[in-house]
Amino acid sequence: MYLHDTRQTLVMKRWGLTNLARHPSQTVGLRLRVRTDADCASLADLWVASWREAMPDTDFPARRPWLLDHLRAIEAAGAITICALDGSNRLLGFVTFDPATAYLDQLAVAPEAKGTGAAKLLVAEARRLSPNGLVLDVNQDNARALAFYEREGFAKIAEGVNPRSGLKTWQLRWPATA
Ligand SMILES: CC(C)(COP(=O)(O)OP(=O)(O)OC[C@H]1O[C@@H](n2cnc3c(N)ncnc32)[C@H](O)[C@@H]1OP(=O)(O)O)[C@@H](O)C(=O)NCCC(=O)NCCS
Repeated sequence: MYLHDTRQTLVMKRWGLTNLARHPSQTVGLRLRVRTDADCASLADLWVASWREAMPDTDFPARRPWLLDHLRAIEAAGAITICALDGSNRLLGFVTFDPATAYLDQLAVAPEAKGTGAAKLLVAEARRLSPNGLVLDVNQDNARALAFYEREGFAKIAEGVNPRSGLKTWQLRWPATA
């Protein structure tokens, strides 16, 4: 077991998160589990492919190293990454959130998994495991993501600007009323 896996295991224990596999994911043929270091390459590939489709004008392959460094840093500080896999153990998506701060930092599903319910399942699991609700930032022109989150009961609470891209964002919160 790698050091990173140990950290994630400790975080999971701290929050009493030992029951991922018992989620209703079984009913749609998906499996959820906490990510390991062995997932890094496929997770980064998925993130690049998913975001490229959503924002074709942005150079996501160039941001691949940033993603992995970023995930390691926020996981070291307490965030959890949960992966959704199909019956062949193929990665379909992931969500990264911190139960202590309620911040949902990353959510992405593979292009072929969009519209299948995988993202809904990942957010349902994050909601279940985050006792203080969830807060996130989404680009205002990311219409699909915005529609998804609003359908899932998130509400706009503030406007902002993405410090890396300069694009306008919405801050969303679930539940809608704190
Ligand atoms: C955001 C994301 C996780 C949502 O998962 P998904 O499987 O695509 O979401 P769903 O298909 O369940 O829901 C999307 C909703 O937006 C709608 N939609 C699709 N394209 C749209 C568009 N261009 N404009 C507005 N709504 C759109 C869909 O019809 C659907 O609504 P409905 O269920 O009421 O019909 C996924 O699209 C993704 O990984 N995107 C790239 C990464 C990203 O944007 N992450 C979020 C950053 S905060």
